[in-house]
Amino acid sequence: MENESDCVFPKSYVMKGGEGPHSYAQNSTGQKSAIEAAKHHLQNAVTKKFDFKAISASSNNLICIADLGCSTGPNTFIAIQNITEAIQLKCQSQNQSAPEVLVFFNDQASNDFNTLFQNLPPNRNYFAAGIPGSFYGRLFPKQSLHLVHTSAALSWLSELPKELTDRSCGALNKGRIFYTNAPSEVYDAYQRQFKMDWEAFLQARAQELVDNGIMACLMNVVNDIDFKVDLYLGKDFELLASCLTDMAKSGLIQEEKVNTFNVPVFYPHVKDLMKVLETNEDFSIEQSEVLDNNCFVVPNIESFVSRLRAVLEVLIENHFGVGIVDELFERFTDKVREFPEIMDVPKLKFHLFFVVLTRKFIVALLKAKSKEVREMVTIILERVEHIWDIWNVRGAIMFSFLVQVFLVLFAPFRPRLDSLLLQFLIWTAYMLANWAANFTVGLITNNAGGNNNGGNKKILRAL
Ligand SMILES: C[S@@+](CC[C@H](N)C(=O)[O-])C[C@H]1O[C@@H](n2cnc3c(N)ncnc32)[C@H](O)[C@@H]1O
Repeated sequence: MENESDCVFPKSYVMKGGEGPHSYAQNSTGQKSAIEAAKHHLQNAVTKKFDFKAISASSNNLICIADLGCSTGPNTFIAIQNITEAIQLKCQSQNQSAPEVLVFFNDQASNDFNTLFQNLPPNRNYFAAGIPGSFYGRLFPKQSLHLVHTSAALSWLSELPKELTDRSCGALNKGRIFYTNAPSEVYDAYQRQFKMDWEAFLQARAQELVDNGIMACLMNVVNDIDFKVDLYLGKDFELLASCLTDMAKSGLIQEEKVNTFNVPVFYPHVKDLMKVLETNEDFSIEQSEVLDNNCFVVPNIESFVSRLRAVLEVLIENHFGVGIVDELFERFTDKVREFPEIMDVPKLKFHLFFVVLTRKFIVALLKAKSKEVREMVTIILERVEHIWDIWNVRGAIMFSFLVQVFLVLFAPFRPRLDSLLLQFLIWTAYMLANWAANFTVGLITNNAGGNNNGGNKKILRAL
């Protein structure tokens, strides 16, 4: 390792900006197909789950939507169009006036928001705003969003797992840039990071969504895959790693830089995702679908390479410096020509996963209520305890005194009384007088012997 800064892995994972030939805007038809594949499910969710009457009553007929990890477009506009279309249709069918819609486009601060805003659809029927920052933390005020959408963004980790970036500087995954075909510690580290991120994401959104608000996530996942047997997933990253190693051998880049480069992307198992969701207290799962993976089919090698380049170029330049990507992706194209089977989608065992969650209302309420109730009971008990501390002996003496007064006044009449009720009361007063005297003596003894502090002083005052 040459110096500490070699260990620093860039935190900015944005896509290639602009609208040039290598830009994300020009090379994201795969992600676009994924949005199209989920369109019907997304619109169904909006139609079935959105409670427009409640919204119009509570928020001035304004619906706030966020697309998290929107990149530069145009896919985000298609997703938002799908959502607003469903909102309008539902309103029409209910004879309700269409609400106003405010859309927040979110991505990392270094995302090319200029390209995004320059290409906003001119005839859009919504207001638009940009929200920079990581969706793994809070981005919006509490209870301010009605619908959250995200597509092809949650595979990006908030950061590389610590095990790959600590002082040993990535030696754990030397020679590789991804977790496939790597020691199991590498996979475990990626998986742990993903779980932490996924939970942080849910926690932040739970605060930002209104009760019964909807969250629709479209993600790349694996299903029933054993990485030791199904070695296809990640082959593209393995080929890319071999190109980087070759370039290091030729002296074009530093070997140390190659050893510390890892792609901060993780494709979770559906079952692991669901495990977190099923135990989550804030969201309920409304719908979950593993969609077919036709959207990952690419027409030719050039498209395959361009799509990967648009996604990784900024990350690679941030790590290795500018000026290596042309050479790297030329070498990569040659390798893909040698092994075209890495584009074989069925072998990839890679899937699209669409899940719709709603922000739980009752649980949120109960959680808050049960906390309030617990606090209230604690306060009441503390007050009762406090009063008892001060008044226990005095109270018992006064009670005993009152019973004695009652007996002095009424006991002489007992032989002459016909009323059974009065006889019963006098008899009860006798018993209580006896008990109260014993109880008071017990209290005094207990307090005097129990401790030697403030309790004693109170008894002396009482006496
Ligand atoms: C593959 S693009 C998907 C863009 C768009 N949603 C689509 O479907 O075409 C992933 C986007 O997620 C963004 N992203 C990744 N991690 C993020 C984070 N922690 N916070 C916000 N955006 C993030 C990236 O910058 C990138 O623009």
